[in-house]
Amino acid sequence: MKRDVLSILDLPDLEKVLDLATEMKNGQTTGKEMTGKSLAMIFEKSSTRTRVSFEVAMTQMGGHSIFLSQNDTQLGRGETVADTARVLGRFVDAIMYRAYRHTDVLELAKHSRVPVINALDDMEHPCQIAADMLTIREHKGTLKGLKLAYVGDGNNVANSLLLACAMVGMNTSLGCPEGYTIDSNILSKATSIAKENDSLVETVTDPFVAVKDADVIYTDTWVSMGDEDQVSQRKKDLMPYQVNMKLMSAAKPDAIFMHCLPAHRGDEVTDEVMDGENSAVFDQAENRLHAQKAILRTVIND
Ligand code: CP
Ligand code: NVA
Repeated sequence: MKRDVLSILDLPDLEKVLDLATEMKNGQTTGKEMTGKSLAMIFEKSSTRTRVSFEVAMTQMGGHSIFLSQNDTQLGRGETVADTARVLGRFVDAIMYRAYRHTDVLELAKHSRVPVINALDDMEHPCQIAADMLTIREHKGTLKGLKLAYVGDGNNVANSLLLACAMVGMNTSLGCPEGYTIDSNILSKATSIAKENDSLVETVTDPFVAVKDADVIYTDTWVSMGDEDQVSQRKKDLMPYQVNMKLMSAAKPDAIFMHCLPAHRGDEVTDEVMDGENSAVFDQAENRLHAQKAILRTVIND
């Protein structure tokens, strides 16, 4: 039976995956497990980190990756997602997909006989969040019992982050304005998972309330790919949620700052915070490589 990663919930053994990532990062395993394996990577949207980290991960593990932009494939000329899945599954060992619609990722997985990895869609960004959990664990030594505050737009990254925090027993406070709150199904799912793991999910509109006693402050762009027609309204509505030194100082003194990147300096985060000593943003970027190696090893096996 193939194993897809369409949501962070498809990694119920997340901490084990992180252990494998740490092992590989520390060079404790040989890392040639992808010899002879191929990964197809379909991108409907732009990418720097995801594309490069997946390509390098496959290369370093002895395998091969194939970059497919939607416009250069028959997908862009009307071949269906289902037929694309059926065809690619005859050639490669796994498919990574960055899509506009979560429903397209589900459709690809349904018709593919090889594992599908969600590399961001309008609902989730599980690979990013696996790397982020690894980063938090490295900085704080543990996950369970920490408090993470997410401020800004309740988007795809926030959805996966909230679910992951609930899975590992972290407390979460979401500080999002009206109109930018997190998906209600994700919120109720995360709340019930958190309860099972003795942790809490709180939703507030005041960012200063959200970050109180936080160990981690996380934000993301105010304008996700696909939201470009709302730039000026979003900037106006979300400016009070900017992560600046004043907001950072309302959290614990050793709170780390996180952002999946790319960042829009001067909008959701100031230079001072991005470049400050508590910023973990480039560790997160590096950990995309290590976490994805572990995910690839988890889903592609003989
Ligand atoms: N964080 C992230 O997914 O970055 P890219 O869009 O550059 O891949
Ligand atoms: N929320 C952002 C993340 C980019 C990595 C987007 O979807 O564009």
